[in-house]
Amino acid sequence: MKLHYAEAGIGIPVVLLHGFPLSSAIWRHQKRQLSDLYRVITPDLRGHGESPAPEGTYEMSELAGDVFALLDALHIEKAAFLGHSMGGYVTLAAWKLAPQRFLALGLVASHAAADTEDGRQGRYQMAGKVAAQGSQLAADAMLPKLFAPRLSADDPVVDLVRQLILKTPSAGIIGSLRGMAARDDAGEMLPQINVPALVLAGDCDQIIPIAKAEATAAAMPRSTLTIVENAGHMPMLEQPEATTKALREFLSTIDD
Ligand code: MLT
Repeated sequence: MKLHYAEAGIGIPVVLLHGFPLSSAIWRHQKRQLSDLYRVITPDLRGHGESPAPEGTYEMSELAGDVFALLDALHIEKAAFLGHSMGGYVTLAAWKLAPQRFLALGLVASHAAADTEDGRQGRYQMAGKVAAQGSQLAADAMLPKLFAPRLSADDPVVDLVRQLILKTPSAGIIGSLRGMAARDDAGEMLPQINVPALVLAGDCDQIIPIAKAEATAAAMPRSTLTIVENAGHMPMLEQPEATTKALREFLSTIDD
């Protein structure tokens, strides 16, 4: 699996992983703004963006393996890994596989718990509907939950995210839904994450409530919790400046 990716800048490698069912395009502000000091690498995860979308279940460890293979090809041994939502699940799976490759770990609108049984069933139902009706179904189901309620439905950010979801092939959506449903609970691993860790959450996130972000941060010994105001599940697009500022402050604390 050769992932499509973009990169900008030179310096400590910073890998930004997008969530479901989106693409590296969500990090466009952060890639540009952080590249003055960092080598920012933004892959499209398997099944998303310009990367290949095979049929099958995308285990989070498999998605993490794809990212490590990309870094190997770029001759990057260690990096700061920050993942948005499903990208956060991939980040935690990557830590489980190879903690020695981490300079820092960040979870943006993400958390460490596995799905509840209801959540898992919901994912299988959605996978079935996407198989029958395509990506439009995922866009219709997800868009109302992704943003802070005050964001108007005709905001350009909403349209960008709609286009990203519509571009995601059904195989990518279904593979990710099955993979997320199958993921392990990473809660017990959190106390062992001994690198600088960031948990960043939007104060209006309707998908991953702030309480989960707080609990995740509290369980990691070297964590910082940042709440971005007036943001939902997509703080990097809803509040790009505040999000970049928080990432910059966090990244300034790591030593390579
Ligand atoms: C995401 O944004 O990546 C997903 O909504 C996460 C999830 O469904 O758990």
